[in-house]
Parts: sequence; structure tokens; C-alpha cells
Amino acid sequence: MAFNLLNKDIETLTCPALVVFSKSSSQKDKLAKVTHSELNKKLAACLEEKSITGKHQEAVTFREINYKGFRHVIVVGLGKENQIDHESVRQSVATAFEAVKALGVKEAALHFDGITSSKKDAADFTKATVEGLILTSYVFNELMSAKKEEKEIDVHIVTKLAADKAVKAAFNEGVILATCTNFSRRLGDMPGNLMTPTILADSAVDAAKGTGLKVTVWDKARIKKERMGGLLGVSNGSAQEPRFIIMEYKGAAASKKPVVFVGKGLTFDCGGISIKPSAGMEEMKFDMCGGANVIGTLLAIAKLKLKINAVGLVASTENLVGPAATKPGDVHTARNGKTFEVNNTDAEGRLILADALSYATELEPQVIVDAATLTGAMVVALGNTHTGYFTRNSALKNKVEKAAVESGEWVWNMPLVDFHVKDMKGTYADLSNISAGKGAGSATAAAFLEQFVGEGIPWAHFDIAGTGWAVGNRLPYCTKKGASGVMVRTFVELAKQHA
Ligand code: BES
Ligand code: ZN
Ligand code: ZN
Repeated sequence: MAFNLLNKDIETLTCPALVVFSKSSSQKDKLAKVTHSELNKKLAACLEEKSITGKHQEAVTFREINYKGFRHVIVVGLGKENQIDHESVRQSVATAFEAVKALGVKEAALHFDGITSSKKDAADFTKATVEGLILTSYVFNELMSAKKEEKEIDVHIVTKLAADKAVKAAFNEGVILATCTNFSRRLGDMPGNLMTPTILADSAVDAAKGTGLKVTVWDKARIKKERMGGLLGVSNGSAQEPRFIIMEYKGAAASKKPVVFVGKGLTFDCGGISIKPSAGMEEMKFDMCGGANVIGTLLAIAKLKLKINAVGLVASTENLVGPAATKPGDVHTARNGKTFEVNNTDAEGRLILADALSYATELEPQVIVDAATLTGAMVVALGNTHTGYFTRNSALKNKVEKAAVESGEWVWNMPLVDFHVKDMKGTYADLSNISAGKGAGSATAAAFLEQFVGEGIPWAHFDIAGTGWAVGNRLPYCTKKGASGVMVRTFVELAKQHA
């Protein structure tokens, strides 16, 4: 696939397919409009009979219309004018790409100037357009013996503003963000046997080549030496070695405190001795999506050359039932010296994050942000629409909200109070890994994590259990079942605010 900005007069272009847009009217009885004035006239009858309504994500294909230099024309609905924003554009473009794919053509021109005539929105929408195209073009078929021939499709984003500096920069940024998100999605989509902690770490090392990122990987012996009792304890039931991945980016003076991202990299979670039910267990290959998305975030930060210092930390292991597996009741000691009882071996994410957050604290960061497919309770609370996040820092909350508006990803602030902390007290050790109380399983998990974050360090925890994969029902640029790469774009926006 190739996507480019093209500074050409669309009227003089020759291309197998042309994508133009339509907008519905905010007035009840008014007809929709096609945003290309000549086609608006030509397709007047279709507008009149409402076969083009301008509805968001509607695609009407006119095969063999032979309009000027174009064999086919696709009209994609943008919705009502006042409801168009960069996220709706991202989704409309996804619809456009699917319609182009269905035509079977190799090349298409997208009439971008029809989306907006405002220079202010142009950069923002250019970024959304190229993100929508790249995200939608992602396919995961590398494990099929007979690979379906994926046709290479070139899409030209045709705009008079192609030479505008801000538009160009936005295009480049969109390419980086979406490409890094797709990189994370692939890590997530790989099955547990082909995405072990070792392979995950090697993938981070390989991807970082040439980006200026320094990647250090700790093996089991080093993890032991570094007193990471949580990560080690979870890995005890597995034949695969755990890994602790450290990605460092230096884009500012050494004196500038780093922004630290932490990810849960559970490459397969069967629950351990507190084993999960079989049905749906295969989905637990996605339990490393927090880690995968942190790797994607660091790659994007480095490629964008942000003027910050950033560190990505991914604790990676399997959670299985081998003879040496942690047993319910076992007590382990985290890196910061705190002890915990493992009363349910399936609540393992918090144990590996405990060590990673302790290590993050030692880096004296500006801020710590973590992403984890941490609790089933998060899925119950928010389904797959919003990523629930927890923070007690109101300034950071504001930054998160702003970042999410910029990225178009939905987040929801969840409560975290002292009662949740109380529920996580242990009987025989400092902490228990499951709550003594009823309900609020995502908040009590967050309260457990908080015990490993240094006093006074702004920290936010993102529980992506519901949004890490299988969001295709609501996001047309994501696959139905696959990983979403959620939070890569938001985390990059958040990083920018710490420059
Ligand atoms: N990886 C799971 C959480 C999860 C469940 C993510 C479903 C996405 C979909 C996590 O390790 C887990 O099993 N958590 C337990 C914690 C409980 C035992 C306190 C859970 O949520 O049931
Ligand atoms: Zn678990
Ligand atoms: Zn898990």
C-alpha cells in the first residue's frame, strides 16, 4: 500500500477510481450535497431520490461512470457538516478504503478538498485521513499457508494544500502514528507460541534499529538479580523465560526528567493454577497488548523526534501451570521490598507491573503512565468503547483528557480512593493480590499498582482490557477480532505535553 499527498488539479487527473464525499444537511427536509460541485450536479437525481444521503460511513459506488479521467466514482458520506471532526474523518476514510478495495482497482484519488475548505482543519484532517488509510489497510494473514493475494493499492490524497508546511507535517505525523500502531497490532495478533517474551523483546530490539532508541533486555537471571519477585513469580509456571524490556529515548537535555511508559506484556495468560475457563481462553494471547502498545508508543516518539526524554518498560512473561508455578497463598517480594500474597494466580498483571512501576519510580520521572489488559471488571464496566483510566493527579487528568481529544481515542476517568487501597491489604504479607471487598475490581487493581509508584510522582493507569482488541464493531479502521493498538496515539499526545 502506498499513500501520498498529491498537489494536482483533480479535474485533470486520470485514475481508475475517484473518491468524493457527501454531507447530509442539518435541516430536516434538505437534501444531501456532494462536495465536488460538478458531481453534485451530475448526481442530482441520486441526491433527490436519497440513494446518496451523506450519512456518516455511507459508500455509494458508481461503477463504469467514466467521469472525466475516472472509470469509477465512490461517494462517501461524511455526516452532518457540524458533526465532522478528525475522528469522523478517520472513520469515513476507512469506509472509502474498503469501497476502493471492493472495486479491485490498484489506484484511487481521494478528493480531500471536499472534506474541508478551512485551512485550520486541513492539517488535522490530513493526519486523520492518512491514519484512517494506514490503519484500515492493516491485515494479519502472515500465518495463512495460502496467502490471499493482497492487492497493492495506491491512494492519492489530492489537495491544493499539499505543499502547505503544516499539512505536510501532519501527513508525516499521521504516517508515523498509524504505522507504529499497526506494528503494535501485529505483536498483539501473533499467537502465544509465536510471540513469547523472548520474541517480543527481540521484536522491540529489531524495530528500534535506526530510530535512535536504546533497547536493553533483561533475561531471567538478570530479573532475579534485580529483585523483580513479581515478574519472576508469575514466570515460574512457564518453560519460556521472562523478559524485562527497557526502551530509552533521548530527545532533550539529560537534566530533563523522563516520561515513563509501562506496559503489561503477558504473552499468554491461562490464569495459572487459578486456571481460567477454556471458552475464550485463546483470547489471552492479547494479554500483552499493553506492552505491545508501549513499544509502539516509544517507536513513534523516536520517529517523531519529540523533544522529550522517554522510557518504555515492558514486563513480559507467560502465566501458565508448570510444576514450579506460583500457588495460591504463595508470598513474593516486589522490587521495592513490599510483599504480597498471591491469593488468585490469575491476578498476575498487577504482580509484574509492581516491579516495572518500582523500577519506573527509580528513574525519577516527570510522569508514569501504564497500559494493561488488567481486569475483566473493566470490560463489564465500560465494554469496548472507552479505555478506563485511573489517576489521583488532577493536572495529569486534564492532560489525559486533552490528549484523548487530540487522538480521537475514547477514555473515561475511573475512581481511585483510599477505600480501594484498604481492600488490598494482605493477611500474611503487606498486600493481597485480590480484593477483600466486593466489586470495583478495576479500581482495587489500580490501588494495588499504586503501592509501587513513588510518592508524589504523577501516575495514570490505563486498563485496556475492553479496548485492546475486538473493537472492529465500532471502529471501521480496526479488524473485527484483532488487536487495536489502542492508546499509542493518545500516549504520544500525552508525551508531547511533557516537552
Ligand atoms: N488478563 C486478565 C484480565 C482480562 C480479562 C483482560 C478479560 C481482558 C479480558 C487478568 O490477568 C485477569 O485474569 N484478571 C482477573 C483478576 C481477578 C482474579 C481479581 C479478572 O479480571 O478476572
Ligand atoms: Zn490473569
Ligand atoms: Zn492477565
